[in-house]
Amino acid sequence: MKTQKEYLQGLRQWLCDTADVPLEEMASFFDNRLSDYEERMSVWEKSYKLFAQLIPSECQKILDLGCGTGLELDRIWKKNPDIEVTGVDLCQGMLEKLVEKHSDKRFTPVCQDYFKYDFGNEQWDAVISFESFHHFLPERKKGLYSKIYSSLRTDGVFVLGDYIACCDEEEELLRTVYLERRKQSDIPDDCFVHFDIPLNMEHEKDLIEEAGFAVEKILDEDAAIIVCRKGGK
Ligand SMILES: C[S@@+](CC[C@H](N)C(=O)[O-])C[C@H]1O[C@@H](n2cnc3c(N)ncnc32)[C@H](O)[C@@H]1O
Repeated sequence: MKTQKEYLQGLRQWLCDTADVPLEEMASFFDNRLSDYEERMSVWEKSYKLFAQLIPSECQKILDLGCGTGLELDRIWKKNPDIEVTGVDLCQGMLEKLVEKHSDKRFTPVCQDYFKYDFGNEQWDAVISFESFHHFLPERKKGLYSKIYSSLRTDGVFVLGDYIACCDEEEELLRTVYLERRKQSDIPDDCFVHFDIPLNMEHEKDLIEEAGFAVEKILDEDAAIIVCRKGGK
């Protein structure tokens, strides 16, 4: 097990080694890695199982943001195959794989940007997302969390599984490099690129609470999992 100091040293080294690798547009990044995507993500096996266990059993109608090939849904449907899911993802190839795996399920694929997609009002028992939101700055996530809040039914849950920075230093380092690289390559503001810019737990929690959620549970193990309830603002 690495110490925080060793982890940060390794991260800094990796950022130096990959400094000349061009940033890839988000959907193309995932499209280009489709063939071995699920194998790569198998390191999160334990977290996917835990994530599925944390979805309350009464949830029947779920919105999954950045659903990809549906690794979290594999486990959720195993528990309850009747759950109705709408899955939003930018990458058509990832959605096609999900539909292929789960042609017998009640699933609506939406190939769209979740910042633009209309989630509706008081529609969902649960809104979930696994390993997707850490690609975006807090300024953008703020509006997304409010949109998730409005779209949930009273007492609905928002369950977030994501990469959380271990400390302020990791958060600041990645954000600085991300902004520099975008600037160097003259990438327009509305173009999403694949680069990890996680918040630390305190900042992620603040952002979620600002949207009105009550944070009920935090599991900070492999992937962090945060269970939030729609409460009174
Ligand atoms: C690391 S994958 C996680 C996929 C899936 N949740 C899983 O755990 O296997 C991140 C996913 O988020 C999607 N994504 C990223 N930004 C998005 C956006 N703005 N709107 C919709 N999907 C997005 C990507 O296309 C990708 O499929």
